[in-house]
Amino acid sequence: MSEAHARFSRLEEGRPVRVDVDGVPVCLVRVGGDVKAVHDTCSHQQWSLADGGAVWGNGVECSLHGSTFDLDDGRPSSLPAMKPVPTFAVTVVDDIITVDTTTALNGAAFPAH
Ligand code: FES
Repeated sequence: MSEAHARFSRLEEGRPVRVDVDGVPVCLVRVGGDVKAVHDTCSHQQWSLADGGAVWGNGVECSLHGSTFDLDDGRPSSLPAMKPVPTFAVTVVDDIITVDTTTALNGAAFPAH
């Protein structure tokens, strides 16, 4: 688990934020009192999900072609993306967000660089 250099109190509901955690790009999304973390790279054409992405309920929509990924299981609910994005464990202690990027909770493959 590594610090995401983000504070819970500064995350705005409905506004995804990209952070790097141990070299892994992570999209953080505040959903109510929770923070969700998925790999920031869209599984379709490697666009940043946090870059202009819209949040719909428990999903983040890629701003390039519109696939929406569930923030818990990483699966796309719409084309053109067909593969899930990795999801990560998040903890928040004293306002500090920590993300474990060593493994994907949903078993999804990390994108190739
Ligand atoms: S790059 Fe995200 S849907 Fe195409």
